[in-house]
Amino acid sequence: MLDSYANVLVTGGAGFIGRHLARALLSLGKGVTVLDNLSTGSQGELPEGATLVRGDIRNPKEMSKAALGAELVFHVAANANGTISVQDPRFDFETNALGTFNVLDAARKADVKRFVYVSSASVYGRPERFPMDEQHPTRPFIPYGASKLTGEFQCLSFQETYGLPGVIARPFCVYGSGENPRMALVEVSRYLRWHLNHRPIQVVGHIDRKTRDFVHVEDVIQGLLLLADRAGDGEVFNIGSGEEVSMRQLTEVIGSVTSREATVREISDITEDTYRLVADISKIAPLGYSPRVSLVDGVGRLSAELGERPELPRGATIFSRGQEGEN
Ligand SMILES: NC(=O)c1ccc[n+]([C@@H]2O[C@H](COP(=O)([O-])OP(=O)(O)OC[C@H]3O[C@@H](n4cnc5c(N)ncnc54)[C@H](O)[C@@H]3O)[C@@H](O)[C@H]2O)c1
Repeated sequence: MLDSYANVLVTGGAGFIGRHLARALLSLGKGVTVLDNLSTGSQGELPEGATLVRGDIRNPKEMSKAALGAELVFHVAANANGTISVQDPRFDFETNALGTFNVLDAARKADVKRFVYVSSASVYGRPERFPMDEQHPTRPFIPYGASKLTGEFQCLSFQETYGLPGVIARPFCVYGSGENPRMALVEVSRYLRWHLNHRPIQVVGHIDRKTRDFVHVEDVIQGLLLLADRAGDGEVFNIGSGEEVSMRQLTEVIGSVTSREATVREISDITEDTYRLVADISKIAPLGYSPRVSLVDGVGRLSAELGERPELPRGATIFSRGQEGEN
C-alpha cells in the first residue's frame, strides 16, 4: 500500500481525523510530517514518530516550507465546524478556500506526486435523491459547504493546469475516538456525552425524519488510504457507511450500549437540515473499501472510552444567522 511514497505531509494532522491518519501512515512505515496551527488540534495527542511543524495553511511561506520533500499530501486541515462558518464566514473562507489554495500551491512547487483533499458531504447541500452519489448536485446551504466546494474546484484546476494529480474525498458524518468536544457537531459524540452526564439528549430537527450516515473514523482512514493508493486522478469519492440511521435509532443504540434508556429533548423548530443524508458508497467499494465498524460497535467503544461524565459538548448546531440551537 502506498509503495511509491516515502514522505507524507498531513495538514491538520493534530486534529481528530488527521491524528488517526498520521498514526495509520506511520504504521505503514511512512515518514510523516504534520502541519498544524493547533487551533482545534492538540500536540499532546500527536502519534509518536510524526514530526510537527507548527504553522498555518493561511500563510503561504509556512506552507511552502512544510511541503518541501513531501511526495504525498493529505490536506485535512480546515475549519470543520459549520456553525462557526455561519458566525464567521470570512474566517471559514480564509481557512478552507484560501488555505486550500495555499496548500495546493505549495504542493505544486514541491513537485508532490499525489494530493488527497479531504472535502465534505456538506458540499451537496439539501438532498435531492437518496442515497447520494457523487453525481448529486452540489448546492451547499452554509458557508462551510461552499468553502469546502471551492477547495474541490481549486484541486481540480491545479491538476488540469499544473499536472498536480489530485483526488477528492467527501466523508459523511465521522465519529470515533478523539473528537474535540468543543468543536464536534456530529450527533454520535454529542448525544453520548449528554447521556453519559445523565442529561437529556438534545435532538435538533425531526427525530425520525432526520437521518444520517455515521461513519467510524477508522473506516474513513481506510477510505483515504485507498484513495491515495489507487483512485483515478481528478476523481471524487464519497466515504460513508452506506447505512441510514435516524436520530431516534441513534438514541436507542446509545440506550442499549449503556444499558440505560436515553431521555430526549426535541428541538423541532430548526428544520433547515431535516433530511436524509446518506452516502452511496458504490463508487469507492471496487477500490477495496468496505466499512468494518458497525454503529453499535463504534458507539460501544466510544462510550467505554469516554467513561462516566465526560466533558459536555459545547457550541450549537446553527444553520442561519439568529438561530439559537441547543444550549
Ligand atoms: N468530522 C467530520 O464529521 C467531518 C466530515 C466531513 C469532512 N470533514 C473534514 O475533515 C477534516 C478534518 O476534520 P476534523 O473533524 O478532524 O476537525 P478538527 O478540527 O479536529 O481537525 C482540524 C485540524 O486542522 C487544524 N487547523 C485548523 N485550521 C488550521 C490552519 N489555518 N492552519 C493549520 N492547521 C489548521 C486544527 O488545529 C486541527 O488539528 C476537515 O477538512 C473537515 O472539513 C470532517
